[in-house]
Amino acid sequence: MAATCPINFDVESLRAQVQAEYDRVAREPHGDFHFHRGADYAHEYLYYTREDLNRVPTLASDRFAGVGNPHRIGPLYPGEVVLDHACGAGMDVIIAAHRVGPTGKVIGVDMTPTMRDCALEAAREAGVAGRVDVRAGFYEELPVADDSVDVVISNGVINLAPDKNRVFREIHRVLRPGGRLLMADVVVARELKLEARSNPDIWAACIGGALPEWELPELAAAAGFRNGRVTEHFECFRNTSAERKVSKDLRVHGVNFFANKQYEIYYSP
Ligand SMILES: C[S@@+](CC[C@H](N)C(=O)[O-])C[C@H]1O[C@@H](n2cnc3c(N)ncnc32)[C@H](O)[C@@H]1O
Repeated sequence: MAATCPINFDVESLRAQVQAEYDRVAREPHGDFHFHRGADYAHEYLYYTREDLNRVPTLASDRFAGVGNPHRIGPLYPGEVVLDHACGAGMDVIIAAHRVGPTGKVIGVDMTPTMRDCALEAAREAGVAGRVDVRAGFYEELPVADDSVDVVISNGVINLAPDKNRVFREIHRVLRPGGRLLMADVVVARELKLEARSNPDIWAACIGGALPEWELPELAAAAGFRNGRVTEHFECFRNTSAERKVSKDLRVHGVNFFANKQYEIYYSP
């Protein structure tokens, strides 16, 4: 699996660079970045509805850096427990909190403290803090119990992971049997050159670690998921410097992806 591991830099320094990049997004959301952010981007490129966006404080939506739209993959139901395994400033967390209602719960995990602070404060501003739980942690080692959540949301983050198999296994561990993965991530139509994959700036911009699209169902299946399939494509890097840097013919784009954890079937003798 060629794209899963960066070549010329170690995992700890990559993680530090990724954290520094998203700390900067949290502190300077209107700064200069290789990728789009914000509510207008979410609406125009990823088809978030204005109705959903109007219920999200700008503290969260200005810092939104997703690449697809998990809410278009399938519904969330009142009372469900949802995990966003790298929630950033919490835009998807707040939309999910409105969907699951007062009897549901949304857990957001993120490794960047400034992002978590924004997510918590935005949940308070949105009036959903009572059903939102923001935790410090890594998606390689989630601070979440086995078989405890109905849905995992993921938006723009698995491409950042050097060990993608491990991230899928963690999602599978925390989902209850029958639970759903509603994921958006960056993929490439052609494998990236070693030079691009080994550049930590391009990795932290969500491109260096992007998988070829056809590998997503394989990765999910290897972790035990069923029914893995891409459901929609997004031109999330259109008009960005990232698109120009790695050349348009790579066709870097966002996808929505669905999979679910199989029910266990017990046979009695
Ligand atoms: C591209 S942003 C996406 C955030 C959010 N999902 C959104 O749509 O705005 C990437 C986020 O992943 C977080 N992140 C990156 N690597 C992580 C890891 N190993 N564990 C937990 N969070 C991580 C970063 O802190 C950052 O907030």
